[in-house]
Amino acid sequence: MIVRKPPMGWNSWNTFAADIHEKLIFETADRMVADGYLDAGYEYLVIDDCWSLRERGEDGRIVPDPEKFPHGMKAVADYVHAKGLKFGMYSCCGSLTCAGFPASYEHEFLDAATFAEWGVDFLKYDNCYKPMEENDPKLYRRMGMALANCGRDILFSACNWGADESHKWIKETGAHMWRSTGDIMDNWASVKSLIEQQAGIWQYNGQGCFNDMDMLIVGMYGKGNVGLGGCTTEEYRTHFSFWALYGSPLMMGCDLRTVNDECREILLNREVIAVDQDEAYRQPFYLNAMHNDGTIVLCRLLEGGDVAVGLFNMTDSPRRISLTLGDIGINAASGKALLMRDLWKHEEVGRLTGIYRTPELAPHASMLLRCRVVDR
Ligand code: GLA
Repeated sequence: MIVRKPPMGWNSWNTFAADIHEKLIFETADRMVADGYLDAGYEYLVIDDCWSLRERGEDGRIVPDPEKFPHGMKAVADYVHAKGLKFGMYSCCGSLTCAGFPASYEHEFLDAATFAEWGVDFLKYDNCYKPMEENDPKLYRRMGMALANCGRDILFSACNWGADESHKWIKETGAHMWRSTGDIMDNWASVKSLIEQQAGIWQYNGQGCFNDMDMLIVGMYGKGNVGLGGCTTEEYRTHFSFWALYGSPLMMGCDLRTVNDECREILLNREVIAVDQDEAYRQPFYLNAMHNDGTIVLCRLLEGGDVAVGLFNMTDSPRRISLTLGDIGINAASGKALLMRDLWKHEEVGRLTGIYRTPELAPHASMLLRCRVVDR
């Protein structure tokens, strides 16, 4: 199985943690279709940790918790598939999952076969409770082999949080995406920290195996499992812009049944999603990396010759940020200019022929532009 663009979908962990059940999954599947998420590209619906009983069954298989999933997992997969979505589940390379449920150590092939029987299309594979004598590359390789030989296409989402320099070996394991950062929390400090953690390893992102900066917190506003403090709508926009420029998988984490209109618009912004899903998958580059004034200008060359530019005010006071034609790589003698389009406002900003200064950006606010080379 070859995965050519950063996977998109929804995952239960950020908001619901252990509070998951069939009805929630069915209602989320309904919302993903009815509210346009599937059409926008969000195709995987993933159940994270806490879906099983505490003990394996007599046949050695993991048993879905009958109170949470009274009709079993095949029925859940069938419902999700009938909606045109794909179905994801979760396990871990140690003997227990991070929340203490049975995990796949020494059961890799059996579990992969079980997931395949249920109709699973995506497996998130975590990193807790590993025997001391084992090492991560080996354990992730094992599940990679088991999935590749289970008779069904199952996307392998490795989740070892970027530990043990996993950027150096994770592609060996057959992973299609890999968690390159620690766990996200729903607050600005966490978003900022993940952005910084990602900066040194973005060159490992690319077709076939994508750097995963963790699930989105857009729309949580402090509610739910990782809702520690919450963000403002403006901070969610900045968070989403960064994930798109970095080309990260986009896995939503809010309650889609109650998300407000502003955040729904953020998640469904096709122009921003197109930056994330751009088929060239080039790494971004800084024009200024967290300058002494606390701003970031991050660019990404897109297929076809356009360039996406994010201008970010990471500080706690208002800022204006400058962008020059020369910095982006166009010299004055070329006779060229850049036509700038604001991807959040869906409108042209003007032509960049020399220097552009943004309007005053509020603390943690940003602009995301798509620039096209035109004659001056
Ligand atoms: C780890 C992962 C999270 C989530 C939890 C579940 O912390 O990084 O994304 O899957 O485990 O217990």
